[in-house]
Amino acid sequence: MPRLLLLFTALSLAPAIAGCENGKPQASAQTIAQYEQHCAACHEVGAANAPRRGDAHQWGKRLRKGEEHLVQSIKKGLVAMPPKGGCTTCTDDDYRALIQYMAQE
Ligand code: HEC
Repeated sequence: MPRLLLLFTALSLAPAIAGCENGKPQASAQTIAQYEQHCAACHEVGAANAPRRGDAHQWGKRLRKGEEHLVQSIKKGLVAMPPKGGCTTCTDDDYRALIQYMAQE
C-alpha cells in the first residue's frame, strides 16, 4: 500500500517519471519528503533558473561538473539557492540521493 501511495505521489507530481516501474532506481520516501519540503519550491518549477526535476538536459549539464561539486554547491549555496538548499538537517548522502532523484527522467 505505501508503495502505491508513493507511485501516486510521483505520478501526480510529474508525469515525466511515470515510467518509474521500468527498473530505474527509485527514490526513497525520505528523499521525496526532503525534496518536497526543501527543494521543490524552486526545483519543481525552475524558479530563478533552478534546474527542474526530471529535466535530463538541464541536469546533464550540471552532472558533468561531478556529483561532489554539486554537493558542495548545495552546501555553500549558489546564486539564488540558499546554503544547504534550505535543509539544515540534510547530510551529504541525502544531497546525493536528492541529486539522483531530480536528475532522473
Ligand atoms: C530558493 C530556491 C532554491 C531552493 C530552495 C533549492 N534550490 Fe537548488 N538551485 C536553485 C537555483 C536558482 C539553482 C541554479 C543556480 C545557478 O546556477 O544559476 C540551483 C542549483 C542547484 C544544483 C546545481 C548546482 C551546480 O553546481 O550546478 C543542485 C545540485 C541543487 N540546486 C540542489 C538542491 C537541493 C538538493 C535542494 C533542497 C535541499 C535545493 N537545491 C533547494 C534554487 C534553489
